[in-house]
Amino acid sequence: MTDLQALDALFADRQDTWWDGFYAQRAKPVPFFVDAPDESLVEWVTGSPSMPGRALDLGCGNCRNSVFLARAGFTVEALDFSATAIDWAQQNVAKAGVSVHLSQASVFEWPGPAQPVDLICDSGLFHHLPPHRRAGYVERVASWLKPGGTLAMTCFKPEGGSGLSDEDVYARQSLGGGLGYTEAQLRSIWGEAFDIQVLRPMQAYAKEAAVFGLPFLWAMRARRSVP
Ligand SMILES: C[S@@+](CC[C@H](N)C(=O)[O-])C[C@H]1O[C@@H](n2cnc3c(N)ncnc32)[C@H](O)[C@@H]1O
Repeated sequence: MTDLQALDALFADRQDTWWDGFYAQRAKPVPFFVDAPDESLVEWVTGSPSMPGRALDLGCGNCRNSVFLARAGFTVEALDFSATAIDWAQQNVAKAGVSVHLSQASVFEWPGPAQPVDLICDSGLFHHLPPHRRAGYVERVASWLKPGGTLAMTCFKPEGGSGLSDEDVYARQSLGGGLGYTEAQLRSIWGEAFDIQVLRPMQAYAKEAAVFGLPFLWAMRARRSVP
């Protein structure tokens, strides 16, 4: 076991098996248990003259964003380490009649796409990573994107997260439901490898809407810096 894996083991509420239980009841009132894609992703994809291409959905859950990307013309690969999420994703993809290549894997164990992609979507994965995984995650995401490729991410604003500091997280051995980030923190974490083009609160939408958005989430669009 590596040092990073030993630290991961401290967080029982962030293992794939914890997420399996989370996805076991699909009727639960979880805001993102919907069919609708992120409003920000829709805005950026439909508003771009140069997309589509190849896309990767990290921590895809039920694949609501992958289905949108496939319908928009992307060749989509999606992964999630939860088996029950992948089961649900498979059913949604089949129901939508689109093609998405699904893998059940941790982002830290997956070997990466066959070739760098044009777009990476992370809707709600990053804020569930413990602090010791942040730098490695940014490195992976950057290496999986083409230079100039786009990262479309949503994550908790401070008011959306648990309010725990990095020190609290290790003392309690829990992320307490996910970590909130300030704008300055996101710029510091992502700003070296990426050119942050948009960082705004998501627009709020009702659960039945055709797109998904909650005001306590950031929507960040970042371009992988060209060396
Ligand atoms: C908040 S959910 C969001 C799901 C989906 N993106 C959506 O917006 O509907 C976070 C997802 O990330 C997945 N996840 C968390 N850590 C992961 C990891 N290290 N590798 C792969 N998936 C992970 C969880 O299983 C879960 O499906």
